[in-house]
Amino acid sequence: MSVKEIFETMDYGPAREAAGEATAWIAQHEGRFGVFIGGAFTAPGTVFETRNPASGDVLAEVTQAGPEDIEAAIKAARKAQPGWEKLGGKARARVLYALARLVQKHARLFSVLETLDCGKPIREARDLDIPLVARHFYYHAGMAQLMEAELPGREALGVCAQVIPWNFPLLMLAWKVAPALAMGNTVVLKPAEYTPLTALLFAEICQQAGVPAGVVNILTGDGAVGAALVAHDGVDKVAFTGSTEVGRKIRTATAGQGKALTLELGGKSPFIVFEDADIDSAIEGLVDAIWLNGGQVCCAGARLLVQEGVAETFIARLKTRMTHLRQGDPLDKCIDIGAIVDPVQLDRIRGLVDASAGEIHQPCAAPEGCFYPPTLITGLSPADPLMQEEIFGPVLVATTFRTPPEVVAMANDTRFGLAASLWSENINTALDIAPKLEAGVIWINGSNMFDAAAGFGGLRESGFGREGGWEGLSAYTRPTTRTKSLKSHEVYSGKPGAPEGLDRTAKLYVGGKQARPDSGYTQTIHGKTGAVLGQIARASRKDIRNAVEAARGAAAWSATTGHLRAQILYYIAENLEARAPEFAARIDALHGGKKGADEVSDAVSRLFTYAAWADKYAGDLRAVPIRGMALATRAPVGVIGILCPDEAPLLGLISSLAPAIAMGNRVVLVASQQGPLSATDFYQILDTSDVPPGVVNILTGDHAELAPTLASHADIDAVWSFSSSDLSAVIEAESAGNLKRTWVNNGQARDWSGNDGEGRAFLDAATEVKTIWVPYGA
Ligand code: NAI
Repeated sequence: MSVKEIFETMDYGPAREAAGEATAWIAQHEGRFGVFIGGAFTAPGTVFETRNPASGDVLAEVTQAGPEDIEAAIKAARKAQPGWEKLGGKARARVLYALARLVQKHARLFSVLETLDCGKPIREARDLDIPLVARHFYYHAGMAQLMEAELPGREALGVCAQVIPWNFPLLMLAWKVAPALAMGNTVVLKPAEYTPLTALLFAEICQQAGVPAGVVNILTGDGAVGAALVAHDGVDKVAFTGSTEVGRKIRTATAGQGKALTLELGGKSPFIVFEDADIDSAIEGLVDAIWLNGGQVCCAGARLLVQEGVAETFIARLKTRMTHLRQGDPLDKCIDIGAIVDPVQLDRIRGLVDASAGEIHQPCAAPEGCFYPPTLITGLSPADPLMQEEIFGPVLVATTFRTPPEVVAMANDTRFGLAASLWSENINTALDIAPKLEAGVIWINGSNMFDAAAGFGGLRESGFGREGGWEGLSAYTRPTTRTKSLKSHEVYSGKPGAPEGLDRTAKLYVGGKQARPDSGYTQTIHGKTGAVLGQIARASRKDIRNAVEAARGAAAWSATTGHLRAQILYYIAENLEARAPEFAARIDALHGGKKGADEVSDAVSRLFTYAAWADKYAGDLRAVPIRGMALATRAPVGVIGILCPDEAPLLGLISSLAPAIAMGNRVVLVASQQGPLSATDFYQILDTSDVPPGVVNILTGDHAELAPTLASHADIDAVWSFSSSDLSAVIEAESAGNLKRTWVNNGQARDWSGNDGEGRAFLDAATEVKTIWVPYGA
């Protein structure tokens, strides 16, 4: 028999990975697990079953954590935290290193257990999940080692509540636990109810690695456990990965509690194929993008956008490729697509596809059980629910485009912004389009590339915060300087009435012009002595809408160069300095005394600071283990709504405005409530400094009244509040609508004239890290 004949007549024979070690580990625990608190497992309590989705067999019973477990875990984490932090970064690095080594040592056990519990192909668990888990611990061992030298002035947040999903159970654990521990925090982690087992094995590994008792606590249970955990007042930080719906609930539940929060949510990521793409590579890339883990991936390339000229060929080749996808027993090393995690999810996918009016292409039937076949749907309109909603299954929707601008619009026509993949052999096209895509991660000629050195996370309703890289650390640290509580800066009162002389009510500043307020209401502003200083317009909801529209219209500002923005900031500084005495007099009239001149001089200096930064905060290059590079670019957030501080009416305005516009954002500012006239005087400076209309919009009025509108506005991307009143509860709750970023004072004062009033914290809040992966090879 010739080799050719052998190949042609050969039957497919499964190559099954042995599950003995994993089942023995479960048996060793008699198939029942308690929760892991203070370095030890509790006796199993009320239990629920966790099943192998591929067979439906019960794997083990795990404990539904009760309120007393949550209390105990948080208490243990709290008790352990100071000691863990005091141990120092270098000693913590050793522990993280030991964790990395042990994950590698037990890689096979972890992979098989993961595959058994969540149904993903063993090939993926073995080659992607578990190696990346080890990589995260190695990388963050390094971060712990370097913390004292490289992050001076930062310290741990305290106790972190971490809630993770079922699609990458151990990997999501690693993404959350490694940076938290590296920075000196302790954690209480809740794995998803479908996939608790590898987290429990990890608990054992912690015992072996010498993780002190209480540093890592694992609570198994359902969403109710997660909800109780994140809302607990013993928690300093909440990190969540999962659905946008639950992310929104967590944002609302934690509003005003002063907790740090990062949310890693859903997506509907575009996969863009240009005519000049390497089609075969793009097809393979697409197979990985949508069929990795059966499409149960938050950043799955679920929306194929293919250029018209190649669409027919591409779809035809894709259909052929689909017939070769092998679906079945996830433990079989030759399987491409495994099981769907749970029958509930299977029903959800079925329901969505069955209701579709599109053309459904399913070239091969799925095996019996909890499986869904690879599916391609064409003929859908852009507004179709399947083009917009996350399906979270092996279902690809496809459509065509004609031109680059059209595909940018189509790709961004979504409420999400997690990832995007684009394919072109033309470097001009690729590098031109990539930054225009509204996504936290962009892969050029690739998909699903992840690494601990490169941040991962979304824009828009895909959540906020990054995991991985330097930027991931800021989510687990805070400045060491303790801020004082904010004093309330009441508006000065006096006799009602207009100022003497000409009655000039200061208007609002919208779209580069002075605008009358919609309400027509005005308010008298008094100085400390009760003297009438002037009158301002009281902005309302409608004025905010107009200002946001103007800011949206000034999008070109975000595309200008840092150099140009610096020039304009210098120009503003110069013009302010030229009128320093007038601005100083305004401040002195407000507060009495003679400190106005210092405040103006600080404001001028602050403008110089951000002019300096404007062309120096573009991002950096990340050392990722591929032939290629990952560019961690800093993009503007978009439109930022800002409630300015009262502590310094002019310096506060400048300190908020300057970093935002230096980084390319447009702003809607609500002036200091106590001293709004410094802001209204500032309109003339803006008018004479070449600031394009709509980049800076200034409103005056009541902070508490305007904050909910700013926070709930769908076209505002971030809200910063430095207001004298602590408006964090209302702002954070209202922000849940479009999941905008918030930066609120939580009742903490800032020293505006000191270092606390400027620097990287502002630049970070003014930018989003967008990681662009550029693999190459001639
Ligand atoms: P989910 O978002 O409900 O669950 C994720 C985690 O959050 C689990 O550990 C769960 O127990 C916990 N949780 C649920 N409700 C909570 C609450 N109120 N407070 C705190 N924690 C809570 O995701 P689910 O129900 O498992 O899947 C539903 C859909 O969500 C999927 O079909 C998919 O569309 C999406 N999803 C997205 C993920 C992503 O990575 N973007 C991951 C998992 C699901």
